Amino acid sequence: MKVFLIGSNGQVGKHIVKLLQDSEKHELTAMVRSEEQAQQLIDSGVNAVIADLEGSVDELADAMQGSDAVIFTAGSGGKTGPDKTLLVDLDGAVKSMEAAEKVGINRYIMVSAYKAYDRESWKESPIKPYMVAKHYADRMIVASNFEYTIIGPGLLLNEPGTGKIEVGDNIQKTSIPREDVARTVVAAIDEENTYQKTIEIMSGDTPIEDALKTVK
Ligand SMILES: NC(=O)c1ccc[n+]([C@@H]2O[C@H](COP(=O)([O-])OP(=O)(O)OC[C@H]3O[C@@H](n4cnc5c(N)ncnc54)[C@H](OP(=O)(O)O)[C@@H]3O)[C@@H](O)[C@H]2O)c1
Repeated sequence: MKVFLIGSNGQVGKHIVKLLQDSEKHELTAMVRSEEQAQQLIDSGVNAVIADLEGSVDELADAMQGSDAVIFTAGSGGKTGPDKTLLVDLDGAVKSMEAAEKVGINRYIMVSAYKAYDRESWKESPIKPYMVAKHYADRMIVASNFEYTIIGPGLLLNEPGTGKIEVGDNIQKTSIPREDVARTVVAAIDEENTYQKTIEIMSGDTPIEDALKTVK
């Protein structure tokens, strides 16, 4: 598949770039925000395009033209305020869906957050507005015609991945290495058992491919 990656310069995004660069099944177009980031990718042999989630749907659609699948792993991050949470995590995500629809892409994979679908599980904390943004972006995907997969990881860690996860909505562990989130996303691309599913993940004991093949 021709995969369009939004958030390619991010911490999870960089792992996905590496995995897709080595993939024989998929061809990557990496979306980034700056010339410098794009040049670095191009220098390492990756097809890169510059676009911004705060730009127009048309700009995003132009960048996506010719792709078969979109992966969204961008995020406004913890250092910005609720304005960017709305503009990037919510509206940026929804604009990317509109752009994908516009150019006829029907596969969409969203990196969401653990139990973003379940308001009652959200703690009173500064990240609550972020959970709201993820919640409504996910609802737009579920209401769309995409063959979607929503992946909801817990706290992301910069530890080496283990290649093993746990799937479910009542997991005791609370975190997962970014590398394992990236592997899960890449494994989900053409795993039809993940289509039309919202999958919550943490570190675990089941090999990623097996976990995705058997997820309900
Ligand atoms: N942190 C957690 O514990 C946690 C938990 C669950 C889920 N998540 C989600 O997991 C995903 C990956 O997280 P991460 O740690 O890899 O995030 P990250 O390192 O902060 O990367 C986010 C990427 O989004 C890009 N971005 C921000 N605003 C943008 C815009 N307007 N247009 C285009 N790109 C934009 C950034 O670009 P620049 O590089 O140019 O800044 C960056 O590369 C995110 O969706 C996040 O919300 C995070």
